[in-house]
Amino acid sequence: MAIEIQGLNYVYMEGSPFEKHALKDVNLTIGDGEFVGIIGHTGSGKSTLIQHLNGLLQPSSGTIKIGDMVITEKGADMKKLRQKVGLVFQYPEHQLFEETIYKDISYGPKNMGLSQDEIDERVREAMNYVGLSEKYMNRSPFELSGGQKRRVAIAGVLAMRPDVLILDEPAAGLDPAGREEILTQIRALYLERKMTVLFVSHSMEDVARAAGRIIVMNQGSVALDGKPAEIFSQAEALRSMGLDVPQITRLIDELRRRGISLDSSIYTIEKAKATIQMMLANKMNREGKEC
Ligand SMILES: Nc1ncnc2c1ncn2[C@@H]1O[C@H](COP(=O)(O)OP(=O)(O)O)[C@@H](O)[C@H]1O
Ligand SMILES: [Mg+2]
Repeated sequence: MAIEIQGLNYVYMEGSPFEKHALKDVNLTIGDGEFVGIIGHTGSGKSTLIQHLNGLLQPSSGTIKIGDMVITEKGADMKKLRQKVGLVFQYPEHQLFEETIYKDISYGPKNMGLSQDEIDERVREAMNYVGLSEKYMNRSPFELSGGQKRRVAIAGVLAMRPDVLILDEPAAGLDPAGREEILTQIRALYLERKMTVLFVSHSMEDVARAAGRIIVMNQGSVALDGKPAEIFSQAEALRSMGLDVPQITRLIDELRRRGISLDSSIYTIEKAKATIQMMLANKMNREGKEC
C-alpha cells in the first residue's frame, strides 16, 4: 500500500509558551512494498511523523493518503485505517495488559469481528512470525523476558495482517542477540508478506542492513532521502546532523585512504567480509602464480 504525504506540518501545544513545530513541510511518497528506514537524531520528528500515519495525530496542515484513502479528510474511517496500518510503538511491551499471551495477541483481530477460527489462525501465524513458541500461548506475558514481551507486542500488530507495518525503534534496549533476531524476523516477514515497512531507528547499522531506502530526518524536516549507499556516502552531512555512518563504512574509508582499492558503497559487515575475502583470495592466487 502506497503512502503520500504532502505539506505536512505539526505543531505541539500550539499557541502556548511550549509550542513546538515538530514537523515542517514534510513531503514524501513511499511506494507499495518498500522497506524504508527512517533515521534521525532524538527530537528530529520521527515518532511524530509516523503517528500521523495511523491517525493518532492529526496534522496542523497538510494531507496524507494511504492506498486510496485520504486519512486527513474529515470523516475518514479510522478503524479501517488502523487495520491497514499497524503501528508498533517504541517499547511496546509497556502496553501489554491481558492475562495471557493469547488474549493479548488476539485483541486486535477480535475487535475486527473475526470468527474464533480465524482469530486462532492469526494468533498462531503471528507468534510464528516473531519466533514465539505456541506453548507460551496461555502463559502470562508478564512472565516473559523483555525481548519476548516485545515479540508478543509485535505479534499483536501482525495478527491484524496490516498492509503497512510501522515500527518505532523495534530493537531499542535489547542485547545484541535480541536485536539481531528481531531484525532478521522483520526482514523475513517483509520478504514473505510483501508489505510496506517503515522502520524507525537511530542505529545506522540496523537501518543499513534492513532497508532499501533511507530517509534522514533533521529538526522536523526530511534532510536526505535515498538508497543506503547514497546516504552513507554523505558522511559530512550526516555528522552535521548528529549522526554517523556505520562503523564498517568508516573502516572501508580508512582502508581506501591507505590505498586499498575497495568499493565505497560497502555499508554492511557481510558485504565487507565477502569483498575482503575475495580480494585476499585473488591476491593469493596471483602470488601463487608468480612463484
Ligand atoms: N507530546 C509532546 N508534547 C510536546 N512536544 C513534543 C511531544 N512529543 C514530542 N515533542 C517534541 O517534538 C519534537 C519531535 O519529537 P519526536 O517526534 O518524538 O522525535 P524523535 O522520535 O525523532 O525523537 C521534539 O522536539 C520533542 O521534544
Ligand atoms: Mg521517537
